[in-house]
This record gives sequence, C-alpha cells and structure tokens, in this order.
Amino acid sequence: MNDTNTTGKASHPGIAVWDQRFAATEGFVFGTEPNQFLVRQATRLTPGMKVLAVADGEGRNGVWLARQGLNVTAVDGSRVALGKAERLARERGAHIETVCADLVTWDWGANQYDAVVAIFIQFAGPRLRPVLFQRAHGALKAGGLFLLEGYTPKQLEYKTGGPSALANLYTESQLREELAGFDILHLAAYDTELSEGNGHKGMSAVVDVVARKA
Ligand SMILES: C[S@@+](CC[C@H](N)C(=O)[O-])C[C@H]1O[C@@H](n2cnc3c(N)ncnc32)[C@H](O)[C@@H]1O
Repeated sequence: MNDTNTTGKASHPGIAVWDQRFAATEGFVFGTEPNQFLVRQATRLTPGMKVLAVADGEGRNGVWLARQGLNVTAVDGSRVALGKAERLARERGAHIETVCADLVTWDWGANQYDAVVAIFIQFAGPRLRPVLFQRAHGALKAGGLFLLEGYTPKQLEYKTGGPSALANLYTESQLREELAGFDILHLAAYDTELSEGNGHKGMSAVVDVVARKA
C-alpha cells in the first residue's frame, strides 16, 4: 500500500469514523461484488485502460475492474478498507495498486487516466463536491470517462444506506451544473433494490452518471 499518511493517524477527521466502521467486522461492509451500475458500463471499459477508482473502500469495484483487465489505482483514506481491498485482490487473483490518501489533499495527477470511477463518494458536501469533480476532470485524458453513482434526496425516505445530510445527496440538475465541463453521455435517477453488503441494502434511490472529458 502506498501510504501518503506517514503519521499513522487518520489525516481527515471523517476517516477515523470510516476506519472504525471497516474495522468493526472481519467481513466487507459493502460486500465483495461490484456495483451493478459499474458492471452495466462494462462495454465502455476495455482491457489495458488505466483507471483511478476514488474512495474505492474495500475494493469490490477496483478488484472487479482489475479482473476485466484494466490497470487499477484504488485510492481511499481508510487504511483498514484498503487492507481488505488487498485481501480481496489476492483472493481473486487480481492486482490493484492501493493508495491510502485523503482525496481532499492528494494530487490526482493530470491527463493520466482513461476512466475515473467514483461509486458512493458522498462524504463530500456541496463545497467539496465540485472540487472533486474538477479533479476527476483534470486527472482524465481527453476522451476519458467519469463514472459516478450516488444517492438522491429520496434516499432519506428509504434509509437503506448513504449519508443523512441532504446537502451531500445528488439531484440531476445539480449534477448537470457541477459536471458542466464534461459531455454527459448518460444521466439517470431511479429506484432500485441494492444488495451491497449490509452497508447498502434494500430499496434505494440512486442516480448514475457517465460523463466524458472532451
Ligand atoms: C460509502 S464508502 C464507498 C466505498 C466504495 N466506493 C464502494 O462503493 O464500496 C465511502 C468511502 O469513502 C472513503 N472516504 C471518505 N472520506 C474520504 C477522504 N477524504 N479521502 C479518501 N477517501 C475517503 C471512505 O473511507 C469509504 O471507503
């Protein structure tokens, strides 16, 4: 694991909470199977592509991407989650490069990736969110894809996962505005049954985005 936090302490206050959540079970809080929106995008993802999986947590998505033949860098602030991601990669015979870093301060790089995958990164509130979207844009090569899934405000009725802060949830219009620098190829909000460990379980209100850097 490439660890940018050399103090041994969580670099971001919120990360300590994530570390505790991931350490509370030997198992995988969000399961070991990939997110279904990501799987539906498989035809856009070809072997050899360089992918940055941000806030990849316990690695279910990064490992699946690696098993499709993509070259994966998985970044997360939780060292505990990344330890599980490395375990999952070993068990599945896949290789991912893991980086333990706070995405707020980490250098995402420029024009490097064919895709940036961001599945449930709703730790970011309204001020940070556009900054992270901007970094994703900067990190992508021209023509690169940004794949994003998150919960919509309706999720506060379902309470089957995700943040309780309304401001951290996504609406279609807010995403169109904040992703204005991209070409939006697909944007859809819908209700679906999620079964992603105990973390995301039950009827859920989500929105999916596939956006391309021009
Ligand atoms: C809801 S989980 C999603 C994990 C993974 N994408 C998945 O779908 O299984 C959110 C993730 O964001 C990570 N995270 C929260 N704040 C972060 C930060 N500032 N920098 C990097 N990762 C962060 C947490 O450690 C956690 O793994």
